[in-house]
Amino acid sequence: MIRFLLNEQLVSLDNCSPDTTVLEYLRTKAEQRGTKEGCASGDCGACTVVLVEAKNGRLQYINVNSCITFVGSLHGKQLLTVEHLKSSGALHPVQQAMVEQHGSQCGFCTPGFIMSMFALYKNIAQPSRADVERGLAGNLCRCTGYRPIIDAALSLAGKGVTDQFSQAEASVYQQLRDIEETLPTAELSFANRRFFVPCNSDELADLLQRYPEAQMVAGGTDLALAVTQQLQQPDTLIYLGRVAQLQCLEEHKDRLVIGAGVTYSDAEPLLHKHFLPFAQLLERLGSLQIRNQGTLGGNVANASPIGDTPPVLLALNATLHIRTGHTYQQIAIDEFFTGYRQTALPKNGFIERIDIPIDHQQTHFVYKVSKRLDDDISAVCAAFSITLEDNMVVAARLAFGGMAATPARAFKAEQALIGQLFSEAGIIAAQQALTEDFSPIDDVRATGSYRLKVAQNLLLRAALEHQSTTDEPMEVVQYA
Ligand SMILES: Cc1cc2nc3c(=O)[nH]c(=O)nc-3n(C[C@H](O)[C@H](O)[C@H](O)COP(=O)(O)OP(=O)(O)OC[C@H]3O[C@@H](n4cnc5c(N)ncnc54)[C@H](O)[C@@H]3O)c2cc1C
Ligand code: FES
Ligand code: FES
Repeated sequence: MIRFLLNEQLVSLDNCSPDTTVLEYLRTKAEQRGTKEGCASGDCGACTVVLVEAKNGRLQYINVNSCITFVGSLHGKQLLTVEHLKSSGALHPVQQAMVEQHGSQCGFCTPGFIMSMFALYKNIAQPSRADVERGLAGNLCRCTGYRPIIDAALSLAGKGVTDQFSQAEASVYQQLRDIEETLPTAELSFANRRFFVPCNSDELADLLQRYPEAQMVAGGTDLALAVTQQLQQPDTLIYLGRVAQLQCLEEHKDRLVIGAGVTYSDAEPLLHKHFLPFAQLLERLGSLQIRNQGTLGGNVANASPIGDTPPVLLALNATLHIRTGHTYQQIAIDEFFTGYRQTALPKNGFIERIDIPIDHQQTHFVYKVSKRLDDDISAVCAAFSITLEDNMVVAARLAFGGMAATPARAFKAEQALIGQLFSEAGIIAAQQALTEDFSPIDDVRATGSYRLKVAQNLLLRAALEHQSTTDEPMEVVQYA
């Protein structure tokens, strides 16, 4: 049985198939059909709901796509939908703002926009236009146009965050803690199919030994698509979102330690402090809904050649801490990607955390080239860590996504760069060497020759950007 709050109502749910999505649960079991289904793949935001979690002594409001969130992951959380926003017959301030700014025509996208705006309203008292654009980039509208919707969100700035939810915060916090205390681990089952919610790494290791065919779900932003798009029916799912050891976020003098289950949104402030280009890349990874659910561990384990964080972790020389049963091991990220979507992760093992060394001698560059700025997959992603002495390259780690069957380093280009000045002239040999490192393929996102040219140009761009910080300032357009 799992337990969660559906608005104010405590729900105990069992006898439900493990791959039921929150959207399916809302529309078919809870009979609340305000939440809409558009794409069923996390792209359009029509199904956006807000999850409330008791974290670090307060309630955290996050907007997520209910179409790719499994219902079992609701254990210990509060689920809010568009039906819950009205209070004593009056519209919530975000709904009222949409009415006043004429932000809705056919209305299909509106519940999703309202829920994203609601999360924004709860999290940022004075949202700027950039905050609003970031907050709504995961919601598509095909008829109204975005101007009135953005105006509605901006009109809320400074209006305060007091509503019926703020008044109920202490009680909701207590109820969520009570669930955690009375039911720390949970299980949803139906006809021999199961969704497990372990709360620590020992239980997770044990479950993986007992159910060797089980699939792990962290944010589910990759895995859930296998259910909604490929109609797979996994028998056993194990949710990682409540495993304490996978949620660590530590700052040491010489390294950052990031639990594999930490979401992009939660990792972002620490990365912003130590690896600004990495944090800036995350702003372009999916949409806010995806970043609120997706995890670094999921991105690495998924091993997609066009995943965004693996090239950065390769450039930063990260180490993966893996646990299998009672065995612990460390695998350097260089050794992890063994073939197309294949990794060195042992059977029944899981990534517990990721260590990223802090090296103040290095300069970092990260670029994502995609067709759209927001919510798009990379054609090429590049990450460089370069150590310079008197502007001469003494060490370099150049890593790319989208150039090979795995995220990969450009070893020949690295060798060609070492000993050269990091300048327009100094990178020419390394640009040439990239043609020996990679033979990228043509696909729907880009041709192989385009990818190669882009990779070479990104190296040039890094050198020019570096030159501009040491020489004359140069404006580099952010859009890649
Ligand atoms: C609309 C949309 C946009 C997206 N945009 C981007 C993008 O811009 N860039 C990008 O890189 N990706 C993107 N993605 C893909 C996805 O969001 C990321 O790959 C994300 O990091 C996956 O993390 P997750 O926690 O959701 O993984 P899940 O889906 O939960 O898991 C993915 C795989 O990893 C395994 N796994 C998860 N955690 C662990 C662990 N700790 N140990 C071992 N195995 C584990 C799971 O079993 C599964 O096989 C997008 C996805 C969607 C739906
Ligand atoms: S239905 Fe499109 S994101 Fe969920
Ligand atoms: S109002 Fe019709 S899709 Fe947005």
